[in-house]
Amino acid sequence: MTDWESCYVEGHTPWDKGIPSPPLTAWVGKYRPEGKALVPGCGIGHDVVMLAQAGMDAHGVDIATTAVQRAQATHPDHAARFHLGDLFALPQWRASFDYVFEHTCLCALPPSMRQDYVRAVHALLKPGGLLVGVWFINPDMEPGESGPPFGLPVPELDQLFFSSEWTVIEDYVPESAYEGRAGRERLRVLRKQS
Ligand SMILES: C[S@@+](CC[C@H](N)C(=O)[O-])C[C@H]1O[C@@H](n2cnc3c(N)ncnc32)[C@H](O)[C@@H]1O
Repeated sequence: MTDWESCYVEGHTPWDKGIPSPPLTAWVGKYRPEGKALVPGCGIGHDVVMLAQAGMDAHGVDIATTAVQRAQATHPDHAARFHLGDLFALPQWRASFDYVFEHTCLCALPPSMRQDYVRAVHALLKPGGLLVGVWFINPDMEPGESGPPFGLPVPELDQLFFSSEWTVIEDYVPESAYEGRAGRERLRVLRKQS
């Protein structure tokens, strides 16, 4: 397991680009979603602030104390939106969210935890709620190098959510991306069925 707290304390946060995910920003601009949203593994919180500025009741949760403190310090007007917590231990938020926005949380977890992630997100969404994910299909690691990020090839993404509990409602390779990530991500939206 990665020691996320140490990463933030030591300033080793190469994933943090200082702006929200371009594919998520484009999706939100197109559909103007409303309601309550959660960003798991929100880091410094750029995605949460983008959702709040688009009018959502947006919240972020992160397991690293320093990430949450830095999110609050970076976005003081939105400080109350950032919560310290473990995605896998949020019973107080069961069936609370209309949307979960995934961006570099799943790919940061060991692949052995992927089913746990699916169960956790399913529990957090209201029935009919949407999981809007920018899935890191190809992190383009050097030969022999391992994650995080741990890539999620499309067949694995298919398999991960292959159940009567989810329906794919949108799926494409985003046109916009952080520099260097073009063509390596996939935006897929899934609806929680029950
Ligand atoms: C690769 S970083 C991505 C952060 C942010 N999404 C971004 O793109 O800037 C992964 C984040 O997930 C958080 N994280 C890891 N495991 C978690 C868990 N079980 N619950 C909540 N957050 C977690 C880490 O602390 C870290 O901030």
